[in-house]
Amino acid sequence: MPDFKIAPSILSADFARLGEEVDNVIAAGADVVHFDVMDNHYVPNLTIGPLVCDALRKHGVTADIDVHLMVKPVDRIIPDFAAAGASYITFHPEASEHIDRTLQLIHNEGCKAGLVFNPATPLDYLTYVMDKVDMILLMSVNPGFGGQSFIPATLDKLTEARRLIDESGLDIRLEVDGGVKVDNIREIAEAGADMFVAGSAVFGAASESDPNTYDSVIAAFREELAKATV
Ligand code: DX5
Ligand code: ZN
Repeated sequence: MPDFKIAPSILSADFARLGEEVDNVIAAGADVVHFDVMDNHYVPNLTIGPLVCDALRKHGVTADIDVHLMVKPVDRIIPDFAAAGASYITFHPEASEHIDRTLQLIHNEGCKAGLVFNPATPLDYLTYVMDKVDMILLMSVNPGFGGQSFIPATLDKLTEARRLIDESGLDIRLEVDGGVKVDNIREIAEAGADMFVAGSAVFGAASESDPNTYDSVIAAFREELAKATV
């Protein structure tokens, strides 16, 4: 059984109580904090930057922070995120003029690096940089918003990415982002993913009577993952 990681996207968290939300979701058993950075240029939405990442670290968050950059250009902001405590920094190849250089920059700043593939973006960008990525992130929705539906063609793409990783023999995470729910996480795992971003499925589970309880949804994810044939 792979070492599956669950990475709630704080895009769907209550931003007015962000530190508490992250504490609660980690206490509920999540592994990684997925941090969506949008610039109203590369994607049509605007979210959070390095100051918020730094604030979470100062608040006491020790879990890995997985910074998903949906910004263009990318290089200028990378050192700021590294200084703010990012663990992973991933970016979309279309948003960088020099992909190899950007990957090196992320490593030089002491973070793990990854490439993010939009639904229509081919995996060809990996051909000459496979040894320079720690993570491959497949978007299963078009980037910009939480709460969209999983695009089924991602399953075949995950299988292809898994094959590339296995053939390389390298230690590379295969993350999936968008529309991951309790009822599809198992088939997504069976297609080859080992790290699962979930925003609305996790933070949408907060109830009025008990807004801090994410235990049941994280437990339901783990139960489904335990049934996966991989
Ligand atoms: C979309 C973001 C996702 C998003 C996922 O651009 O990259 O991380 O928050 O949200 P859900 O899980 O609601 O599809
Ligand atoms: Zn994301």
